[in-house]
Amino acid sequence: MNKFTPTAMNKFTPAKPAGARSVDDITGSRRLRRMRKADWSRRLVQENRLTVDDLIWPIFVVDGRQVREPIAAMPGVFRLSIDLAVKEAERAAKLGIPALATFPNVDISLRDQTGSHILDPDNVINRATRAIKDAVPEIGIITDAALDPFTSHGHDGILRDGIIVNDETVEQVSAAAVIQAAAGADIIAPSDMMDGRIGAIRDALDANGFQEVAIMSYATKFASAFYGPYREAVGTAGLLKGDKKTYYIDHANSDEAVREAEQDIAEGADMLMVKPGLPYLDIIRRLKDEFQMPTFAYQVSGEYSMIKAAGANGWIDGEKAMLESLLAFKRAGCDGILTYFAPEVATMLKG
Ligand code: PBG
Repeated sequence: MNKFTPTAMNKFTPAKPAGARSVDDITGSRRLRRMRKADWSRRLVQENRLTVDDLIWPIFVVDGRQVREPIAAMPGVFRLSIDLAVKEAERAAKLGIPALATFPNVDISLRDQTGSHILDPDNVINRATRAIKDAVPEIGIITDAALDPFTSHGHDGILRDGIIVNDETVEQVSAAAVIQAAAGADIIAPSDMMDGRIGAIRDALDANGFQEVAIMSYATKFASAFYGPYREAVGTAGLLKGDKKTYYIDHANSDEAVREAEQDIAEGADMLMVKPGLPYLDIIRRLKDEFQMPTFAYQVSGEYSMIKAAGANGWIDGEKAMLESLLAFKRAGCDGILTYFAPEVATMLKG
């Protein structure tokens, strides 16, 4: 008789031969593979999910009309003139993407030592905000108040005698935040890592009647090699000498990141961001556990480009790696992700 018939199994569990150790002896009756055995049971016990509501799409804007410039180091990403950015905003809204984050590439003639063009209410970022808000009022607009796309040296702050001066930069960034809010930005996201910027921006926004405009702090922004392709996109790659280690966090540090986030919350941040993303999942988890704040990751340009490049070479399955990386952010505790994959993944999720 076949000893695996249900009757034999139910009634008489045969004794194991002396000396043999079965898997059940080792694990008790726990077998974690039971729930993995079929698609339906895997779906039933899945702990984290990625949805379109998790996505923030960073886009690059430039002057002109009908401009769609490819960025060599970011296949599939373009610098768009405002008319085309509006079209993309319409597409994003249709896909259900909640918000866009805009970054400019301005002509070199507009860049100077202090990044003063950021204060021009008619610079390309502020015009893009007005145009997108006008055409697609339902999509959220997040603007970066950092100076780097506007300085002749590519740093995020005002450079004097080789030093990024903190307080003067904070004044400039706060003034820029008010101008961006006046143009219609819903969230100001300062990425410059100057001390005291969150409190100063909050005060400036409130003093000018923008109590409802939120602040997403790039609370823990690390000095990282993963920003390379972005610097090509905004045109700072050729300008920047040295690094940003005197203002971004040393990527060796984790306690310091917690202190940064704590400070930004005390100063009035509504949301926290960790940047870059995937190499810093430990920081995301620490911040979420410690503060229970809305917490976001920026899957930065280098992370995007690595997945795209390996996918294009057939070394990895690019689509699967994209989805896996984004779900990893959810598992680490993120409420959402800034990602250049946003339209691609939103299209997939919709389908
Ligand atoms: C600077 C800024 C950076 C990014 C956005 N704003 C980093 C840098 O150039 O040092 C990086 C975004 C990305 O890599 O996708 N304020």
